[in-house]
Amino acid sequence: MAYIQLNKDLEALKHLLHTYEDNQVFVLTAPHLHNILITKEGALLKCLDNYPVLLIDDSESSKVLDTVALTWDLLLQHQATRHALLICLGGGVITDLGGFAASTYKRGIDFVHIPTTLLGMVDAAIGGKTGVNYGGIKNCVGTFAEPIQTYIYPPLLRTLPAEEFLSGYAELIKTCLLSSQQDFNDSLMALECLNDEQLLEYLISRCAAIKSNVVTMDHNEKGIRKCLNLGHTIGHAIEEYSMSHQSLRHGYAVMQGLVAAAYLSVTMMGLDREVLRQLSHIMVTHYGHASCACSDYDELIKLMKQDKKNVSCHTISFTLLRAIGQPVVDCVVPENMIREALDYLFSL
Ligand SMILES: NC(=O)c1ccc[n+]([C@@H]2O[C@H](COP(=O)([O-])OP(=O)(O)OC[C@H]3O[C@@H](n4cnc5c(N)ncnc54)[C@H](O)[C@@H]3O)[C@@H](O)[C@H]2O)c1
Repeated sequence: MAYIQLNKDLEALKHLLHTYEDNQVFVLTAPHLHNILITKEGALLKCLDNYPVLLIDDSESSKVLDTVALTWDLLLQHQATRHALLICLGGGVITDLGGFAASTYKRGIDFVHIPTTLLGMVDAAIGGKTGVNYGGIKNCVGTFAEPIQTYIYPPLLRTLPAEEFLSGYAELIKTCLLSSQQDFNDSLMALECLNDEQLLEYLISRCAAIKSNVVTMDHNEKGIRKCLNLGHTIGHAIEEYSMSHQSLRHGYAVMQGLVAAAYLSVTMMGLDREVLRQLSHIMVTHYGHASCACSDYDELIKLMKQDKKNVSCHTISFTLLRAIGQPVVDCVVPENMIREALDYLFSL
């Protein structure tokens, strides 16, 4: 399991960089992140300014094999050897794609993640899943490969746009739902007073640790790791559906998926209805109404059937909650119940 550090400063990163040859350290990032985080006067990551930088577009539509090939090309052009280090600096698109490119280049080189989004800090940069979208399916091609370190440096969030912050917050809420009533309450409180940096840092470190513990117990997602998919069965289907319509951020789709999963949890597992009420309120207040208000449930259900997490291609499996902190994985939910949950979600 990769070592995760919540950094107050970047000394640990600087130490690590000194253990590689200078011309074998590469920074993979997007042009505007390079400008605001590395080259700008007073930028937080000036220490990366001396290394060759590989620039790629970090939009979700770029998370494809062509961009991986471009990254391999850039590594080759810079004569990266098997002893190179790739620093993936960015949100989940950069860390997923960079991790995949690094784990396959010359059969695998070292890489570290420096997540720059909230979603990256609490989720995408932890757990060793890498990959790209393929054939219209999210993260269809990828590897399990661990970064040698993940550096979590919350000040990097200062330049993050508000919608991106909220997108990550959905994953933070998800992790708290899996953990305890106290963590869930804290996550609701922090959402109401976002200038409480200390509480936010505490929640980031809490969520990073929770995810990392779950992954340590079940690296290849054979059992307990599936709990992290809470909200993702319907969430992923909505996200994929939106890729061919009006694109929706990952966390916004997850928020919708959490509400639908809470509905199913109340109906099928006896979860306290108050949790559903709170999540519905958060969604409507902070994320807006479900924007994929399509009557095309058949298409969404077809996408759910393609979900990698299903045990059989004929059934759809969910992670649900018996109570906060008590997830149940591999719950097969009949289609009529899924349609009912979608009705609830789209009625809000
Ligand atoms: N591997 C995993 O376990 C895992 C888990 C969850 C999500 N993901 C993946 O993560 C991706 C979504 O990642 P994301 O939500 O982090 O968004 P992202 O990588 O798409 O980044 C969102 C936007 O924010 C910008 N940005 C990033 N950091 C910034 C900063 N500090 N200041 C200003 N702008 C900044 C980016 O340039 C981009 O325009 C999806 O592809 C999803 O599939 C992976």
